[in-house]
Amino acid sequence: MSSPSRPRVFVSRRLFQETLDLIAQHAEMDVFDCSGSPTPEELVARTKKCHGLVAQGTDRIDAAFLDQCPDLRVVCNVAVGYNNIDVAAARERKVVVTNTPDVLNEACAALTWGLILGVTRRLGEGERTLRAGQWKGFQLDFLLGMDLVGKTLGIIGMGRIGQAVAAKAAAFGMRAIYMRSPRRPDEVITGPDGAPYEGTTLEEVLRRSDVVTLHCPLSPETHHLINRESIRLMKPSAYLVNMARGPVVEEASVVAALENGWIAGAALDVYELEPVVHPGLLKFENAFLIPHLGSATRETRTAMCNLAARNLIEVLEGRAPVTPIPGSFIDV
Ligand code: GLV
Repeated sequence: MSSPSRPRVFVSRRLFQETLDLIAQHAEMDVFDCSGSPTPEELVARTKKCHGLVAQGTDRIDAAFLDQCPDLRVVCNVAVGYNNIDVAAARERKVVVTNTPDVLNEACAALTWGLILGVTRRLGEGERTLRAGQWKGFQLDFLLGMDLVGKTLGIIGMGRIGQAVAAKAAAFGMRAIYMRSPRRPDEVITGPDGAPYEGTTLEEVLRRSDVVTLHCPLSPETHHLINRESIRLMKPSAYLVNMARGPVVEEASVVAALENGWIAGAALDVYELEPVVHPGLLKFENAFLIPHLGSATRETRTAMCNLAARNLIEVLEGRAPVTPIPGSFIDV
């Protein structure tokens, strides 16, 4: 039932019904019910009279957007990453920003191992060969990959997801080393057995690892962290995995690396200009490419949507959000 005193909310994509039902108990809700995403103009038009916005990582929330939405009190991203939001601009305008950490750690970590296995064991190539009717039967030297056991996994970005990936390394017989952030050089991170992982520099991780996997947030410091220069530090036998954000990797440098044999292969879940994929990548059998599926399980996506809804309701009802992003304005 509509009531003028209830807060107004725009939900920028169709969420699961249980999440919409939860929001509807607390607010007047407008849902973008089309396939695809609202254009920036649609996003403004539908949010400008709202108090709350449930956004996705592809909705750009910057100062110009916020200035057109003067009643907005909270933006709840259904994503752990929040590079789509100008956090400083939101803070200046007293808009709370929240994300959905933790609930997706295991789904993203599991799929990272899917990418690692996919690229090192040539699963994409194998499936394409079989579906094309070109499989000739068992052959001793057919589609040989690389063993993981005894190898080094280099984790760049040792936050919650990076640590969930590291926790599974021992199960594959891999030793995990990491670079968390140049700002925390002395921090000790321990695994499930209590033993510390070896933290080191970006250069060392790139030089020593047999598989380098990226889990850092996208920021001005991590934009194109993997570029023509840094990728050349990797061993020619090593594999690159990106489960972070596309622009952490300069895609053209991965194409150059595959073309020139600077690395053995790459497995990517995210891309610089999604949904566009650099056409150069598509030429290589040793590029294992999936379409931004990191957290894409029914259980995890439901948990993300429900966490975003809880954040929204808490703020609109004058309580602290469950998971504000670091540096968010909070007024309780
Ligand atoms: C997905 O990419 C996320 O940031 O949650």
